[in-house]
Amino acid sequence: MATVLLDRVTKRFGRITAVDGVTLEVQDGQFMVLLGPSGCGKTTALRCVAGLERMDAGRIVIGGEDVTDRQPGRRGIAMVFQSYAVFPHMTVRDNITFGLRIRKAPAVEVLRRTQQAADLLQISELLDRYPAHLSGGQRQRVAVARAIVMQPAVLLMDEPLSNLDALLRLQMRAELKRLHRETGATTVYVTHDQVEALSLGDRIAVMRHGVIVQCDTPSAIYNRPASTFVGGFIGSPPMNFFRGTVEEGGRSVRVAGTAIGLEPRWAGAEGMGPGSEVVVGVRPEAFEVMAEARPGALPGVVVVVEPLGGTTLLTVSVGGETAKVSVAPDTDHEPGQRLWLRPLPDRMRLMEPGQGRALIPTEGGAHR
Ligand SMILES: Nc1ncnc2c1ncn2[C@@H]1O[C@H](COP(=O)(O)OP(=O)(O)O)[C@@H](O)[C@H]1O
Ligand SMILES: [Mg+2]
Repeated sequence: MATVLLDRVTKRFGRITAVDGVTLEVQDGQFMVLLGPSGCGKTTALRCVAGLERMDAGRIVIGGEDVTDRQPGRRGIAMVFQSYAVFPHMTVRDNITFGLRIRKAPAVEVLRRTQQAADLLQISELLDRYPAHLSGGQRQRVAVARAIVMQPAVLLMDEPLSNLDALLRLQMRAELKRLHRETGATTVYVTHDQVEALSLGDRIAVMRHGVIVQCDTPSAIYNRPASTFVGGFIGSPPMNFFRGTVEEGGRSVRVAGTAIGLEPRWAGAEGMGPGSEVVVGVRPEAFEVMAEARPGALPGVVVVVEPLGGTTLLTVSVGGETAKVSVAPDTDHEPGQRLWLRPLPDRMRLMEPGQGRALIPTEGGAHR
């Protein structure tokens, strides 16, 4: 096993800077997810780690060794691509053993490791079949087996589940999590799917325009997004944003005519001076929904009611903007209904309106 370090990595394609001075440290055995919208540079960053791209600047360090000038085959990595890159003219067994045979591993060793990888991926019964006779999900398992049979110190995966249908994707997601627990390989996993990232990652590095905008645990990324971009990209539906004005020296914020009380830790924080414009971020499940007017509750009108089984999603018109509010499925709501939304003070996020950067509360609240 090994640590992985991307050290100020830059990669350009002509005038496009695909990866722009990225530094990222992955601990030994960690499952790191690179998450971001299409085109933000995830694949390019991963290919730099693999040695498939020549970088314009920076270093790649794996297991403490600078591998920047090493060939992909000499970096102790294995990679699983989005397209199921399996050889169609080879059986599953030959696909899996291909790398080991190239390395001239002893036959008993090849047999043992193939069986082990096939067991882990639950494809032991498929070893003598050809890829044409496999489902998409089975083919992807073969691709993963072929990577882990090499017992790489570092496993790199680029959207390995994105070509699978929804149910299979859900199954494979859990399988990959189990696989990681059982192999312990340091993993860098690329996806644009925030649910996948939240479910799989020990840590998530959120990328945008070639840079990492936040790197933290899934819970911190979800609950304490560093910007409106992260809050808006993660969560389904995403975080709600309201424009507000700071009042009472940072003790409350006025949104759509309503003064909402803030936790004391906001008083005196940077960006919280009287009259400052702020963006108030509230997750759909972080409102108290009330049938009557209350202090600190925003008046709204229900526009759409969507029962989703486990929860019900309300679209609520609030002061000319709409908010998405998640409520228990057994609650009675209908379009046209008036209600009041009180953002839970400990779940509110405040951002500055320009770049959308999160404001930091005072008194040791920096991590809240
Ligand atoms: N081989 C290439 N030639 C030119 N431009 C590329 C190449 N590969 C990627 N790019 C560009 O670099 C940017 C990042 O691409 P990519 O790393 O594939 O993003 P992601 O994987 O996050 O979707 C995009 O603007 C893309 O068009
Ligand atoms: Mg990509």
